[in-house]
Amino acid sequence: MPDAVSVIRAKRDGHELTRAQIDWVVDGFTRGTVADEQMSALAMAILLRGMTRTETSAWTTAMIASGSRMDFTDLPRPTVDKHSTGGVGDKITLPLAPLVAACGLGVPQLAGRGLGYTGGTLDKLEAIPGWSAQVSSARMRELVADPAVGAVICAAGADLAPADKKLYALRDVTGTVESIPLIASSIMSKKIAEGTGSLLLDVKVGSGAFMQKYDDARELAETMVEIGTDASLPTRAMITRMDVPLGSTAGNGLEVAESVEVLAGGGPADVVELTIASAREMLALAGVEDVDPAQRLADGHAMDHWRAMIAAQGGDPDAALPKARHTELVRATESGVLTTLDALAVGIAAWRLGAGRARQGDAVQSAAGVVMHAKPGEAVQAGDALFTLHTDTPESIASALEALTGAWSVSEGYSPPPLIIERIG
Ligand code: URA
Repeated sequence: MPDAVSVIRAKRDGHELTRAQIDWVVDGFTRGTVADEQMSALAMAILLRGMTRTETSAWTTAMIASGSRMDFTDLPRPTVDKHSTGGVGDKITLPLAPLVAACGLGVPQLAGRGLGYTGGTLDKLEAIPGWSAQVSSARMRELVADPAVGAVICAAGADLAPADKKLYALRDVTGTVESIPLIASSIMSKKIAEGTGSLLLDVKVGSGAFMQKYDDARELAETMVEIGTDASLPTRAMITRMDVPLGSTAGNGLEVAESVEVLAGGGPADVVELTIASAREMLALAGVEDVDPAQRLADGHAMDHWRAMIAAQGGDPDAALPKARHTELVRATESGVLTTLDALAVGIAAWRLGAGRARQGDAVQSAAGVVMHAKPGEAVQAGDALFTLHTDTPESIASALEALTGAWSVSEGYSPPPLIIERIG
């Protein structure tokens, strides 16, 4: 029978943990017989020593086994989901889920809330009057099976990978978040327990992303694809740029409005490109080759599914979105072609304006955020509008302006790097 100290020592000394040791320690931690300080020490040993592919997959399996697992295999349509590691202005899930549903697949998506400068999908959708993130498992199945809806975006129940919730809270306060095997197994345990039939991962890299270095993003993407493969979940990953915000808005209600523009056939080119490319990958993962997502977006089918999805969760798709009580225009002070627009700076500005939260449980403002009037590659003249800041708390404007100082630059020319850098799996 393993004991916590011998498991910690084994990892501390660089040994590979056995499946029995992993199952025992994760189960004990979930039930409270392995103490928080013991799990913290083990997390630190894992951060310093790493885990092999076999250990990482076993760790993920143990995380899943700590709670319940959903199953959609009996539904009349294949299911597929997308997970993004998060970034500034990343609203892709909002147009993507109804688009993929409009292509005939089911999208059972358990999403999260934002912390710090990256927004959360649930915070964005909650800007829609009446919309609720709480959907029972039974209702989720009904909506995914309904050909007129097909997509659900909702909060995970407390019984989905509870060991991960408990461990993430510990990692957050013990300097052990930055372990790639622990990040990968944390994300994948929730996605596998969610019961999706296949999975697309959007691993972001750049100043506004969790992974700032390309090699780390690649390692994370590869580790998650391996976990999916080992769990028989068809999984692919895209590594995409997050040095510039996605689209022209960062902030909850502002991003909903921009997503609706995309569903109506307009919207910023980068959001449209990534939405359609993601939909293509998801259709390919599910083995559907005869449907063109660009067509389903253009012909209004995706918008029909958006409206049905929002209404099914209590939202009014026609309701006006909240408007901020205060706005502040920021103008360009130089002329030229915009060459940089730093995602981190824009994310911090939106957060300071009230779009994000500093601690779990804090409220967010639905109307707060930043509208970007120019993106890299566009010409600006001194005096042109660059940003509009939106907030209900005008005292936050000075600190948001401070975050944006030095966040942009102009030059004479610009050749845009690709948005999708690499595909894995
Ligand atoms: N997101 C997760 O869900 N888990 C991590 O460990 C890090 C980011």
